[in-house]
Amino acid sequence: MPDNPNSDSLAERRKFVKSQYDHLWEGVNNKLEKVLAYGERDLSRVHLFMRRNFGPGFDDAHLQDKYNDHEKKIFESGFICDRQLIRVNAMDPRIVTLMTDAVKMREAISVFGPDVGRIVELGSGWGKNLFNLFKFGAPLNAEYWGMELTRAGRELMERVASETVSSMKVHSASFDYYHADFSALSSTINTCVFTHHSIEQIPEVSVQLIERILLIPGFRCCLHFEPCGFQIPGNRWLADSSQIGLMAKIDEGNRRFAEKRNQNNNLYPLLRELELAGRITIHTVRKYFTSHLINNATTMIVWGPKHTESQAPGTGGIRDDI
Ligand SMILES: C[S@@+](CC[C@H](N)C(=O)[O-])C[C@H]1O[C@@H](n2cnc3c(N)ncnc32)[C@H](O)[C@@H]1O
Repeated sequence: MPDNPNSDSLAERRKFVKSQYDHLWEGVNNKLEKVLAYGERDLSRVHLFMRRNFGPGFDDAHLQDKYNDHEKKIFESGFICDRQLIRVNAMDPRIVTLMTDAVKMREAISVFGPDVGRIVELGSGWGKNLFNLFKFGAPLNAEYWGMELTRAGRELMERVASETVSSMKVHSASFDYYHADFSALSSTINTCVFTHHSIEQIPEVSVQLIERILLIPGFRCCLHFEPCGFQIPGNRWLADSSQIGLMAKIDEGNRRFAEKRNQNNNLYPLLRELELAGRITIHTVRKYFTSHLINNATTMIVWGPKHTESQAPGTGGIRDDI
């Protein structure tokens, strides 16, 4: 049985999302094949050339147009990075990709700390973030788990790993947010879980998801990079606090974007409710921490089991919500 009520419409939604991502990961696989055909086997270069705005274009015209349009939008709106709205005038928007990757991955690495033994991404696609963590300095000897709905995403991750980085301990597992099953993670190892723009695909996450994450053997903390800023009260997340009107406008744009696409609407309220009930501890909430598309901006939330003695390392404990 699914964890959520309303299973007919959810089953439809799940089917639609799955077919969209099967198609996207096939497109990325075509890019990978072109790069491998050059004889390239360096993880950093292969990884970069698989990204939407680097390397060979997508064969699929629809995907190509969609991502060209994203680049144009970044020019129009600017992007958010660490409490600044930065305009892209002369700067190549591809730098935005590199900058925001670096900022997010470094933040994740300090939250996870040097002793993490197992890093788990839920809704991991082809493992872009797991490979990035490894490249940006997460522990070399940790296990990297990509848990993903689509077979195309899981197979692509395994292929990148086997072609480019045999020293990295990469594991893939089938995973569905609607039936969260962590039985693949059976040994007790210091474990950090994260999500990056995958809970966005689930209109309502269930309390069972959080309960099951808490039960992963060795679970220490969970970090979300998700476009859920509009769910969070308060607008004091830009360094220039006089920009109240601009912050409200970005909030409204994010809400509209999520509503139009039936994206997630309850991640933050659910976590806050569990915190107030004393069931988890929220360490960090950084509203609109970074963005590409400004109306689908990324908020960072870190939480862990209740009564954690100390703050999760490296987060600074910033709470934009309270
Ligand atoms: C926007 S992509 C992000 C992929 C990856 N996290 C990244 O940042 O590159 C969303 C991912 O969520 C996955 N997804 C969608 N619905 C899911 C579900 N019900 N369970 C698990 N993963 C799901 C998709 O297959 C896709 O890989």
